[in-house]
Amino acid sequence: MTNGFLISLEGPDGAGKTTVLKQVIPKLRDVVGKEIVPTREPGGVAIAEAIRQVILDVNHTAMDAKTELLLYIAARRQHLIEKIVPNLEQDAIVIVDRFIDSSVAYQGYGRGLAVADIAWLNDYATDHRQPDLTIYLDVTSELGLERIATNADREINRLDLEKLDMHQRVRQGYLSLLEQAPHRISLIDASQSIDKVVEEVVALIIKRYQETKHV
Ligand code: TYD
Repeated sequence: MTNGFLISLEGPDGAGKTTVLKQVIPKLRDVVGKEIVPTREPGGVAIAEAIRQVILDVNHTAMDAKTELLLYIAARRQHLIEKIVPNLEQDAIVIVDRFIDSSVAYQGYGRGLAVADIAWLNDYATDHRQPDLTIYLDVTSELGLERIATNADREINRLDLEKLDMHQRVRQGYLSLLEQAPHRISLIDASQSIDKVVEEVVALIIKRYQETKHV
């Protein structure tokens, strides 16, 4: 058995991942006697945060879809090597806000790039490392966009400015991924209240962690 436990948190924009993650961490710390490391993509370490600035800059409207994909992949590689793997080696539980499935959902289903190419690039960047558990927060595109519009604290990035149909394709992408990998990906209904979503996420993580680690 490998060390550590890698969890990815996925969902369309406005699913509430970032808020949920913030609330889940202290609750998990109370229950699991392990180091818990929250992090995010694109970013998490200085080089990947610098790549993030380039990708999400609202002025970069000329960015080609393949350029965008390769930048996400480059940020993923650096973040994995510099932060995720060393923490897993210390036997931590690492929770990453977006990972491999975001590239398939956004650049594949959303932008129309070939999903097989993205799968290969993900494998190349991660040395075939897959999360032990992926939590997919599901929300309709209409509700997701409404939440973004009413959340004054949230920075509006270039991808937030995409139209409704892009968001719908992204959601379809996630639902297809869920069908293909039901053993790895679990869906949680993110249209529920934040307290309920947090409660379900915490319960799911504890259950899967205990099953996998036999604790
Ligand atoms: P962010 O502000 O982190 O959004 P969120 O809080 O919704 O995660 O911006 C990340 C954006 O990057 C988000 O719109 C999804 C997009 N993205 C991709 O298109 N492909 C990827 O591989 C990743 C990791 C993110």
